Amino acid sequence: MGSTPPAQHSIHDPARATTVLPPVIQGGMGVAVSDWRLANAVARTGQLGVVSGTAVDVMCVRRLQDGDPGGHIRRALAHFPLPEVAERIVATYHLDGGRAEGVPYRNIPMFSARPAQRLQELAVAAGFVEVFLAKEGHHGPVGINLLRKIEAPIPFVLYGAMLAGVDVVLVGAGNPHELPGLIGTLARGDDVTWALRVQQASHSDHAIAFRPRELFHATPPVLARPAFLAIVASNDLAEGLAGSPSARPDGFVVEGPPAGGHNAPPRGPRRLDARGQPIYDARDEVDLPAMVALGLPFWLAGRYGAPAGLERARGAGAAGVQVGTLFALCEESGMAPALKAEAVRAARAGAGDVRTDWRVSPTGFPFKVLSVPGTLSDPEVLATRERTCDLGMLRVPYEREGGSLGYRCPAEPLASYTGAKAAREANAQGRVCLCNALLASAGVPQSRPDGSVEPALVTLGTDLEGIVDLLRHLGGQRETYTAAEVVEYLLGA
Ligand SMILES: Cc1cc2nc3c(=O)[nH]c(=O)nc-3n(C[C@H](O)[C@H](O)[C@H](O)COP(=O)(O)O)c2cc1C
Repeated sequence: MGSTPPAQHSIHDPARATTVLPPVIQGGMGVAVSDWRLANAVARTGQLGVVSGTAVDVMCVRRLQDGDPGGHIRRALAHFPLPEVAERIVATYHLDGGRAEGVPYRNIPMFSARPAQRLQELAVAAGFVEVFLAKEGHHGPVGINLLRKIEAPIPFVLYGAMLAGVDVVLVGAGNPHELPGLIGTLARGDDVTWALRVQQASHSDHAIAFRPRELFHATPPVLARPAFLAIVASNDLAEGLAGSPSARPDGFVVEGPPAGGHNAPPRGPRRLDARGQPIYDARDEVDLPAMVALGLPFWLAGRYGAPAGLERARGAGAAGVQVGTLFALCEESGMAPALKAEAVRAARAGAGDVRTDWRVSPTGFPFKVLSVPGTLSDPEVLATRERTCDLGMLRVPYEREGGSLGYRCPAEPLASYTGAKAAREANAQGRVCLCNALLASAGVPQSRPDGSVEPALVTLGTDLEGIVDLLRHLGGQRETYTAAEVVEYLLGA
């Protein structure tokens, strides 16, 4: 790898603000691993810093209940264009000096097809806060990552991010074909009808309505349109999106099975290895020359977090790489410091064990799990956790007899899931409440009345050797590293 930084990739479209996208995208990692601090640190280097848009509403109110150290949330809210909404959020959730030990966090209402006005406002404000803070103090590019599967909050969080001037929107975990249309509607401040996928639906008209006009009690501002990158794992999806005038993104992130978080399932028949992991084969390899032929820039993700990975990606015609695991363990990431330290220690000792688990995520997608003592990767910890569903971000709507909507999650208590909600018990087996587990992993675990706190679950990609290589590159004595050092390492500076 030479020392000349790779060229930036420009997306020029007369209908949009010109966005210049750099060779390194810091992956959007939920919940709050890619928080504003990490995205800000990366964007300052000129590379694309990305905040995770997942559960930003819960994170926002938990930070306020922890006293908002540094006053960051309140500083951002002071710039929110709807001051009365900002004041109400602070008055409702901020605790001077933080919660008393053991006091549970106050939860927010769950999203449904008819989210309460206060919840809509909170989701918009939380999206704004995260992007505002990520953009503060520099001119580097900032993106927001949204999971297509967690669909109800998308229009609200995205609108908040756009109010804060987000430069790029990256959406994966599902087919994001509606996103260009949604971004355009929100930019104009028009009413949104956001179709909901409903299980056992008798018709296809289920949708969430979002009216920016009602939020502003006036004509909303016209907003700049961010670039849109679709996160894909197959040529089929990329070709389908690129070939459709209404769905065509500005580019792609092509993510392979080694990536952290959720992965696309294998394309072939369902096969498991001896450890219960899905088996991927040649059918899951993305044809990169075919990606080049689509004529849109793309970034490669999943074990590309090294100078040689960037070189390999560019050699294959990519504009650069999206990197997760290396950034997840850097000083600025939002992962709980003790978990980060344990993951780095395990990586250095060559003892890091990352499994692709097909059961753990209520979404049904394979999910990467790092074995960490005391977390839900440990069957004993998992067995002692009592199922509860008090956040509900992964609930999916289903149509009840008579047509009304219910909401269920395969990680909720079995009695309700298989009882009144009439779902199959087999679908609940092995599922983990990722809402509570990932908030715990982000350092804001819920306290329970018996004095316990929710256990964490750590997700990382399989490329733990990359951490060892980076630390070696930094001189071998270090146990931590910064986001800027990751960028320097990747660019060969
Ligand atoms: C802790 C963690 C959480 C992640 N969460 C998300 C997510 O919420 N949305 C998403 O699109 N990708 C997510 N990813 C994937 C990353 O954005 C990135 O594409 C991937 O990790 C790249 O592979 P690498 O880890 O080998 O660098 C996550 C990755 C990690 C390590």
